[in-house]
Amino acid sequence: MNSFDWVSGQGQPLHGSVRIPGDKSISHRSLMLSALADGTSRIRGFLEGEDTRATAAVLSQLGVKIETPAGGERLVHGVGLHGLRAAAEPLDCGNAGTGMRLLAGLLAGQAFDSTLIGDASLSKRPMRRVTDPLGQMGARIDTQEGLPPLHIHGAQPLHGIRYALPVASAQVKSALLLAGLYAAGSTEIIEPHPTRDYTERMLAAFGWPITFSPGSAKLDGGHALHATDVDVPADFSSAAFFLVAASIVPGSELRLPAVGLNPRRTGLLQALRLMGADIQIENPRESGGEPVGDLLVRHAPLHGIELPEALVPDMIDEFPILFIAAAVANGRTVVRGAAELRVKESDRLASMATGLRALGARIEETPDGAIIDGGALGGGEVQTHMDHRIAMSFTVAGLVATAPVHVRDCSHVATSFPGYRELANACGFAIASV
Ligand code: S3P
Repeated sequence: MNSFDWVSGQGQPLHGSVRIPGDKSISHRSLMLSALADGTSRIRGFLEGEDTRATAAVLSQLGVKIETPAGGERLVHGVGLHGLRAAAEPLDCGNAGTGMRLLAGLLAGQAFDSTLIGDASLSKRPMRRVTDPLGQMGARIDTQEGLPPLHIHGAQPLHGIRYALPVASAQVKSALLLAGLYAAGSTEIIEPHPTRDYTERMLAAFGWPITFSPGSAKLDGGHALHATDVDVPADFSSAAFFLVAASIVPGSELRLPAVGLNPRRTGLLQALRLMGADIQIENPRESGGEPVGDLLVRHAPLHGIELPEALVPDMIDEFPILFIAAAVANGRTVVRGAAELRVKESDRLASMATGLRALGARIEETPDGAIIDGGALGGGEVQTHMDHRIAMSFTVAGLVATAPVHVRDCSHVATSFPGYRELANACGFAIASV
């Protein structure tokens, strides 16, 4: 990946309708379940990001034929639950923690060995959270002291377990459910706080018997998946940058059509409303088994809040952009209970604190959060630490900073949001590539 920088300056009030690309979590899962299904599934609204394309490439290496009839569309010719075959080369998940962790569960149940590798950022992310419980199910997975690459031994008979997750993680839950498809008996997951339930919903849509409710999921091995078409809604996490941008730039009004509004994803919406944001949901409806709606966001003065800890898992990817909102809000924002941010694509508490300080913000990093005193932001240079969400968040800061914000190495934006700069500039941002 070639690195390149962006400079974000004050633009215009933001206006128009912004078509946000497809949901990353749902796109990954739709590929995996389609691959293991009997028959051909069509995925519409597929995220053409590097993360999800890496998962498609991995599945192709494992013998799955995947066609691209048009951008944002995939035809996946499922090979059935036992139809994958060994890949000659290591399987490269790129920057994608979701890809690697879910595939670890899926591959633990195969008859052949596999090796999962990732880029420099993914290679620093903890994997024991999946390999330990998978080991309890009978899997054999070698790590590099808990880090990737993962070498997954095939032909290990798996058995179901009842597992209480020590941290709320949809990736871990999903990895165990995918391994559970291949396990003898029941696999049951209990969560300390409910997390996104896309794997559960999609397994049900593909015809696998599963019971789930917020905070728990249970399935038995030994059934079959049946091909199903999937409509992927727009990714709320990508919409989040525009929600904050329009909230903080005076005179803005943006419409974001057909955004996924699964309640396990929309914590930021609640947080921003608590801060005084003006965001309306129009035309709420269901699409592909998921709640979606058109979001209408208008500028509104924001004030600081004590973020309710219960919202943390429902906005786990939105903290970088929340921190930008907090840094320009009136008063103090306090975030607690968010230590998981330290093991995302970068240590997001550290990345945001360092970057915001470089722009003159008052932010104190704590072990599991931050205390941010809102005020004006100046210009300056910030590092992204190979983290797409850090990069996009600081382009939003540039809209209201008193001088341009130079964002170093924005190449990873393409992992989740290809075309971000063009889309942002079309509605009033001023992001130049340098
Ligand atoms: C995801 C779960 C979350 C989230 C990630 C996507 C998923 O990770 O941060 O971007 O698709 O299941 P954790 O499970 O590590 O919290």
